[in-house]
Amino acid sequence: MKENIIAHSFGITQKERNQQKGHNSFVVWFTGLSGSGKSTVANEVEKALLSKNIHSYILDGDNVRQGLNKNLSFAPEDRKENIRRIAEVSNLMIDAGIVVLAAFVSPYRVDRENIKNIVKDNKYIEIYVNTPIEVCEARDVKGLYKKARAGEITNFTGINAPYEPSENPDLEIDTSVLSLEESVEKVMHFLKNKLIITNE
Ligand code: ADX
Repeated sequence: MKENIIAHSFGITQKERNQQKGHNSFVVWFTGLSGSGKSTVANEVEKALLSKNIHSYILDGDNVRQGLNKNLSFAPEDRKENIRRIAEVSNLMIDAGIVVLAAFVSPYRVDRENIKNIVKDNKYIEIYVNTPIEVCEARDVKGLYKKARAGEITNFTGINAPYEPSENPDLEIDTSVLSLEESVEKVMHFLKNKLIITNE
């Protein structure tokens, strides 16, 4: 089947879409434990981007797993597929000229590395939300750590499933040390140059 599918080359390019919007497009990938603050920071970053007239969109594990990825579990192979699909969706959105804010636990290094085989290397920005597990567990916003400790959830990242720390993130944030405002500022400061259209 695959050999009979030939990609069509359309007339409008990503560059033209970027020029129309007046900014570059890429994915900002937040990785870290559940409760580390990924979605909270992404939410505020999106507001900051909107105020600068920058078109962005949040893809978040808890939401995407209710639709596109509702058939996926938290077993390693399903997490792999979760991340692969999100990377493909991000790639389409980048082509559409949008800044994607992706908030996923994405605990496996190899799966995060694979994003760069789908999204161009220079279009992938990794932010490691490195909030200590003790803090994430104390927050326990969704009550999931408690359930995991009680053995009601198997495969729970940080408790009975691994998190492989990001080794070379573009940026690292610890939301137990930085305020929300400071975290957002750090991200926005980093994105400033990336948003400028250059003649690559
Ligand atoms: S990922 O590992 O595949 O990247 P994803 O980010 O989509 O995970 O989803 C994580 C969210 O699902 C967490 O924020 C948490 O609310 C919820 N969740 C439910 N079960 C688990 C689990 N076993 N491990 C981690 N998160 C879980």
